[in-house]
Amino acid sequence: MKILLDSAREADARQAKALGWVDGITTNPILMAQAGLPPADTLHRLADVGLAPLWYQLTAKDPDTMEHEAQALLNLFFQPVVLKIAPTPAGFQFVARKDHTCAVTAVYSSAQALAACAAGADYVIVYVNRATRLMGDGFSLVHDIARVLEGTGTHILAASIKSADEAAGAVAAGAHMLTLPLNVLLSMTRHPFSDQAVEQFDREGTGLGKLAAG
Ligand code: G3P
Repeated sequence: MKILLDSAREADARQAKALGWVDGITTNPILMAQAGLPPADTLHRLADVGLAPLWYQLTAKDPDTMEHEAQALLNLFFQPVVLKIAPTPAGFQFVARKDHTCAVTAVYSSAQALAACAAGADYVIVYVNRATRLMGDGFSLVHDIARVLEGTGTHILAASIKSADEAAGAVAAGAHMLTLPLNVLLSMTRHPFSDQAVEQFDREGTGLGKLAAG
């Protein structure tokens, strides 16, 4: 299980990197815009943080210009990258060239997932919360896609996750990996009853660490 940060903000990336259990960062064109800097500056800052691989979504529209954009990215970011590809006819053509590690993003059907698999995509990205809002049940979409991709080399990254419970539900439905905004990442380690238990250990318990603290 790998958990990634879904953000293009340097400050978020630094916090996620410090956690020690976050395995990369996903961006998309909206997140890049929200970072508020020219794209190359944002990418330089993220490279400086070193939370890799970077999953970067190509914005060019045809396979040849997509390749130019990919090369521009690789010239800026000297760490592993995964190219996120929008599910357009040109996007599937680009994936089928098999020149890069690719994730077909914004997948809303099992048929798209199968086409991505046939094109040689390493990952499909399923927008769980958006699918629930738009289609009724994002978990059943993940479940259906997991069934059709079973035994293939194409894995499911669940995205558009708004809570810790939704993150766990996406994995229970068959997602192999998660990408989460910072607030959801941070909330995953907490539970009110765990906090109560920790308070009780501190109040009533003892141990070497407690003795050392005086
Ligand atoms: O990478 C962004 C993806 O996770 C979609 O999230 O919040 O726009 O539905 P959201």
